[in-house]
Amino acid sequence: MIDNIKRIKEEATGRITSAPDVEELERLRVHYLGKKGLLTSLLHQLKSLTPEQRKEMGAVLNEVKTEFETTITARQQQLDDQRINQEIEKSPMLDVTLPGQFVSEPGSIHPVTRVTEEVIEHLKRVGFSLASGPEIELDAYNFEALNMPAHHPARDMQDTFYVGGPVLLRTHTSPVQIRTMKNRKPPLQIISHGKVYRSDYDQTHTPMFHQMEGLMVDENISLADLKGVVNHLVKALFGSKPVRFRPSYFPFTEPSAEIDVHFGNLGWLEIGGCGMVHPKVFEAVGYDYEKYSGFAFGLGIERIAMLKYGITDLRSFFENDLRMLEQF
Ligand code: DAH
Repeated sequence: MIDNIKRIKEEATGRITSAPDVEELERLRVHYLGKKGLLTSLLHQLKSLTPEQRKEMGAVLNEVKTEFETTITARQQQLDDQRINQEIEKSPMLDVTLPGQFVSEPGSIHPVTRVTEEVIEHLKRVGFSLASGPEIELDAYNFEALNMPAHHPARDMQDTFYVGGPVLLRTHTSPVQIRTMKNRKPPLQIISHGKVYRSDYDQTHTPMFHQMEGLMVDENISLADLKGVVNHLVKALFGSKPVRFRPSYFPFTEPSAEIDVHFGNLGWLEIGGCGMVHPKVFEAVGYDYEKYSGFAFGLGIERIAMLKYGITDLRSFFENDLRMLEQF
């Protein structure tokens, strides 16, 4: 029996250590150690031996069994390592020390943001700083204090979204003038920008768009200061183009003008409104209009972006079509 065991052991060790794959290894495990395996049947044969021999053989068989198990586990580990190495070799480009792949499309700045930031930059250079106010606004600030009492016909110029009662979506950035003046004393030189809302929708109107407001108040501010600032801004935005102040009407300024810029064969195009702050507005915020004067202007951001970048449909700013946005 001992010879038989020796022979089986040699044969098995050879076959296990050279098993070509895990399937073969499993077959060998069953062959030697399985319920009907060789070692198991030898263990069964112990019954026919004398107690002395049984003890001796039993010990030998158990030792061999443990050895087989160890050899099988070792081979299993070897085969696993081989498979992993082969997989790594099959993908020769994998170098884990290389930096990760870059996202090739990092996104771009929306033209509205671009123009906003540009205008802020140019106006900061001549002394303006930022102020802000809410998009959900009071009638009192959006209209009343800006010299547009209830039933004033100028309210028709701005189709308003009413939230309810005295609350509405601001139709322009001008209420920020009121909020700022109510909280601060002159001298004052502020810009505010943001979303404004009007019930209107076609190729040149969207229910939400962006405005930029400028306000400067001090003693002895004149129309010349207004023209100086506007000319500086237009030149910084569009280069040396003719600028025209076309007489117009706004309830909150007197005199008032539209700002037109001449774009070659497109002719004169309006970019915003402006004027000298109306005494009624100063009165509403408690400023002494005998002592102080000021100018204000309001610009359409999309309007400027359309002219700067040759965009023809206002709605394309808000459709988020990547083919359009990727150009910026
Ligand atoms: N708030 C005006 C509008 O939305 C634009 C405007 C005109 C603002 C003249 C001003 C201004 O500050 O002085 O149509």
